[in-house]
Amino acid sequence: MEILAFGVQSDEKPLMEKAFAGHPGTGTEVRCLDVFLNEDTAPIASGYEIVSTSVNASLNNRVLQTLAAGGTQMIAQRSTGFNNIDLEVAERLGLTVARVSYYSPYSVAEFAWTLAMAVNRRIVRASNRTRDFDFRLDGLMGRDLRGRTVGVLGTGKIGAAFTRIAHGFGMNLLGWDVAENPECLELGMKYVDKERLFAEADLISLHVPLLPSTEHIVGAAALRTMKDDAILVNSSRGGLVDTKALVAELREGRFTGVGLDVYEAEAGLFFLDKSLDVVEDDTLARLVTFPNVLVTSHQAYYTADAVGQIIDTTVQNVLDYRAGRRSENVLVPAAT
Ligand SMILES: NC(=O)c1ccc[n+]([C@@H]2O[C@H](COP(=O)([O-])OP(=O)(O)OC[C@H]3O[C@@H](n4cnc5c(N)ncnc54)[C@H](O)[C@@H]3O)[C@@H](O)[C@H]2O)c1
Repeated sequence: MEILAFGVQSDEKPLMEKAFAGHPGTGTEVRCLDVFLNEDTAPIASGYEIVSTSVNASLNNRVLQTLAAGGTQMIAQRSTGFNNIDLEVAERLGLTVARVSYYSPYSVAEFAWTLAMAVNRRIVRASNRTRDFDFRLDGLMGRDLRGRTVGVLGTGKIGAAFTRIAHGFGMNLLGWDVAENPECLELGMKYVDKERLFAEADLISLHVPLLPSTEHIVGAAALRTMKDDAILVNSSRGGLVDTKALVAELREGRFTGVGLDVYEAEAGLFFLDKSLDVVEDDTLARLVTFPNVLVTSHQAYYTADAVGQIIDTTVQNVLDYRAGRRSENVLVPAAT
C-alpha cells in the first residue's frame, strides 16, 4: 500500500522514504509531494487510503470532503499543532486523524536562543559586512546576558528547555503560565503577572500556544510596557503578536532586537519561494526593513533530530491505524 504525503521538504523526502521502507512487513511505502494540501491539490489524493499532511496544509470542510470522496480514511499530520484541521468534519466523515504529540522541544528552544543571540550581537549585519570586507565594529555593540532578566511566557516543554539555557547564561528568570513548572521553580524562576514580566524583562520569549485567550498577547499595550531596549523573540505562533502594533513601535526606534520565526499571516508565504512575486503583504515588507528585526520562516523545529522523531512517530501512527490500535496521538475518532 502506498501513502501520499503532502508538503514534504527536499531534506525530508529521503528520511520519509527510508523510514517507511524500514517497515516492509506492513507493505507501506510513501509517495512524497512538495505541494501543500489544499482545495486545489486535494484531488491528487484520490485512491489513497492514507494521506500525510504538514502544518501549513488546509484541511477545511471542502478539502476533507474531497479526501473522503476519493477514498481517504486516515490523515497522519506531521506536527503537534492541528489548528489547520477541522476535526468535527473529519469525525463526521468517519476519518481517522493522528498527529505527533511530542518531539524534541530542544529544537525550538535552541532556535529561540539563536534568534535572541543573533539580534543581540548583530550577527546578520556583521556577516554581511565581512562578506564585503568591511571590518568596522560601529553599530555591532551587543549586551551581556549574565545578570539580565529573561521573561518566559509559557513554561511547558519548550519554555522549560529555553529556561534551562537562560539559567546557564546566569540570567534572572521571570515566568508567566497558567501552571507553574516545578523544574523552572527549581532553577529559580519567579512567576509573576504578565504586565510585570513585560515591564521588567530585558529579553522576552513566547512559548504559549495560540488560543483565543493568548491571541495578540503581545499587543500595543504590552509593547508599550516593554523596555525600549528589550529583545522580543517569538518562536511559538504568529498570532501571539500584533504585528502592526509591533511595526508602529519599531518605527519609534524601540527595541534592541526582535526575532520572529512565526508571523500571523505566514500561511501562503512561509515554506514557499515567493522571491519572484510582487510583495502584497505591506506589514511583512516593512517588518523586514528594520535593521534590528530578524524574520525566519517557521524553521525552529527543523533539526534532523526533531524531523526524525516526527517522521518515526508518523510511521508508528500509520502502523497503529493499520493494526487497529489507539494511541495518545489519535485526535479523531475522539476517545470514548
Ligand atoms: N516554531 C516552531 O517550529 C514550533 C514548533 C513546535 C511548537 N511551536 C509552538 O510552541 C508552543 C509551545 O510548545 P510546547 O511543546 O512547549 O507546549 P506545552 O504544552 O508543553 O507548553 C505550553 C505551555 O503554555 C501554557 N499555557 C497554555 N495555555 C495558556 C494560557 N492561556 N495562558 C498561559 N499559559 C498557557 C501551558 O500551561 C504550558 O505550560 C506550541 O503551542 C507551538 O505553538 C513552535
